[in-house]
Amino acid sequence: MTNLHTQALERSPSKVVVWLPLLATLGYPFLLMLFHTQINQGNGPAAVLLLLVASAVPLLGMLVASRPGLPLGLRRLAYACVVAPTLYVFLGVVQALLGSSLPDPLVWCVLWSLAALLAARRGRVLETERQLRPGLGRWRVAHGISALVLCLYVLFHLGNHLTGLVGPALHAEVMDAGRTVYRAWFIEPLLVLAFVFQAVSGLYLAWHWSAKRQDLLRTFQIATGVYLAVFVLGHMNSVFIYARTYLGIPTDWNFATGAPTGLLLDPWNIRLVPHYTLGVFFVLGHLLAGLRVVLEAHGVAPGRVRGLWYGGMFASALVALAIIAGMLGLRL
Ligand code: HEM
Repeated sequence: MTNLHTQALERSPSKVVVWLPLLATLGYPFLLMLFHTQINQGNGPAAVLLLLVASAVPLLGMLVASRPGLPLGLRRLAYACVVAPTLYVFLGVVQALLGSSLPDPLVWCVLWSLAALLAARRGRVLETERQLRPGLGRWRVAHGISALVLCLYVLFHLGNHLTGLVGPALHAEVMDAGRTVYRAWFIEPLLVLAFVFQAVSGLYLAWHWSAKRQDLLRTFQIATGVYLAVFVLGHMNSVFIYARTYLGIPTDWNFATGAPTGLLLDPWNIRLVPHYTLGVFFVLGHLLAGLRVVLEAHGVAPGRVRGLWYGGMFASALVALAIIAGMLGLRL
């Protein structure tokens, strides 16, 4: 046994810690149900606290995924727990498409229990190693270039959602203008293909990097990438298959905000609040993490890189909160 391996085992996190993200993920639907009970009873502060705890499940996944001495399966399980908020939306939509009468929380618990059984069988402990598998560099470059192109759509899309703070009418006006470009017959299929490529290439890279321990920053980059891959695939399924094809409804402000009940008061829709808020924060944070790697590689002064990182993360959180506040009814 190598020294590195021995040290890693000595620093292994306790059994409780390694399973914490899974426990939190199993509890995720129940936290949302409790939120709804509290809201109905008019207990605002308790409801907000429950929503904050539910939204912190990904953070717990990231913290555990970056711990030393974690067996491979459990490290990947911790990464998987980061996607809980968006996966729960995906599951709900797929259940609706299948016409399933099984409750979402039941299916959720069964699927995660199976994932836990699989994870517990993969026991190798692999520590940090930054070596690239041959050929992986090309995937990284392609992932980065396609991200630059997709940025144009994402930034417009988020700007469009920010206009919700003024009101649905302006949101619709900006979306109508944008649709003349991104819904053009020769652009929309390319956009969808590029997003699918982004998700698949991102998952491939994450599979490689998640095998070993990474520092917290790198873990953030990998984990937000995994979240976004599931978010984008689930989001496009909701827009193209569920709304436009299955329900035959327009994908407008009312669709996004769960009208007429809204996002907060409907027991199904509440899951969209952490899903969207983290989706916006993570897409901006993921881009910043990529930019940080590029700037460091080009020798930009560490102080400047750190300033950009913290400033950027703060601004990303503000944008995410502003968008969700507009969707919840706040008007400027
Ligand atoms: C608060 C967050 C978000 C909300 C409420 C939201 C909502 C929507 C809505 C309503 C549409 C339909 C647009 C239309 O019919 O023209 C849409 C489309 C789409 N969104 Fe989002 N979105 C959000 C965040 C994101 C993020 C972060 C991404 C990418 C990482 C993304 C990617 C897409 C894509 C690829 C489409 C399909 C574009 C098309 O219609 O051709 N969305 N979204």
